[in-house]
Amino acid sequence: MISKELRDYIQKSFKRGHVICLSGAGISYESGIPTFRGQGGLWEKYDPALYAHLEGLTQLFKTNPIKVIDFIIDFYSVILKAYPNPAHRALAILEKENILTSTITQNIDGLHQEAGSRNVIELHGNAFRIRCNCAPDKTRVLAKDEIKEMIGLLKNHKNSRIKILRVLSRYFPRCLNCGCRYRIDIVLFGEMLPQDELSRAYKELNNCHVLLIIGSSLVVYPAAGLPLYAKVRGAQLIEINNEPSGLSDLCDYRILGQAGEILTEILGVLGYA
Ligand code: APR
Repeated sequence: MISKELRDYIQKSFKRGHVICLSGAGISYESGIPTFRGQGGLWEKYDPALYAHLEGLTQLFKTNPIKVIDFIIDFYSVILKAYPNPAHRALAILEKENILTSTITQNIDGLHQEAGSRNVIELHGNAFRIRCNCAPDKTRVLAKDEIKEMIGLLKNHKNSRIKILRVLSRYFPRCLNCGCRYRIDIVLFGEMLPQDELSRAYKELNNCHVLLIIGSSLVVYPAAGLPLYAKVRGAQLIEINNEPSGLSDLCDYRILGQAGEILTEILGVLGYA
């Protein structure tokens, strides 16, 4: 529930422009994707020290490929079933109405774009894209049906190392130019963020009046550094989260609640409900 003070602020300031959103896993929770650090989240079942690192995954694949395959199956099974929820759709409407300039997201599920947002900056990549290992700009989109097919094959063949390798090499082919194997285009722990996306994010934040921070624990850098970057340049920070985040104290307004509900209310405040 948004306070009267915040309603007045939203009505006055949002239509003057340059509102930007920074989203995290919490915005996709209502689409059925558990957050990383919440109950039932990926990092509850799989130790990120092993599974969120390329070296960890590579080593594990050598010794126990089934564990890696189980992780891939669990990871994709959830996001393949997910659809945009009212929070994603509200942001897409705000962008269409020229209120929201861009959405900077840490999410890799593509749900902002699926909801209709156009100016999306993906700091951590996209789970439906693959890229050449040595040339990050050489990318290819994998259709959801292709990934479903791959997951089906992995489930059927997970006890045979040779068959697993055959399936993976079919969906992650070698680059015709350099011979490198394609890999999923997401940022694992210890890897650099895509520099062009990060530069785009900083550029947007240089002129930002309001930064809406939605559903992020704000503990993973450099994304967690963006609110401070915006604040020292004069932006007002509004946090929408169902519990306080690591940087709640930095925010000018904090709205405790479910992202879908709050953003629908914001649409109403602005007359778009
Ligand atoms: N509405 C609003 N907030 C929610 C909701 C909801 N319906 N559900 C959960 N949240 C909040 C949680 O309380 C938590 O503060 O969303 C936040 C999710 O935090 P994390 O799971 O840590 O996700 P995120 O901040 O996006 O993680 C950052 O960490 O593991 C890496 O690369 C991964 O991009 C990810 C990064």
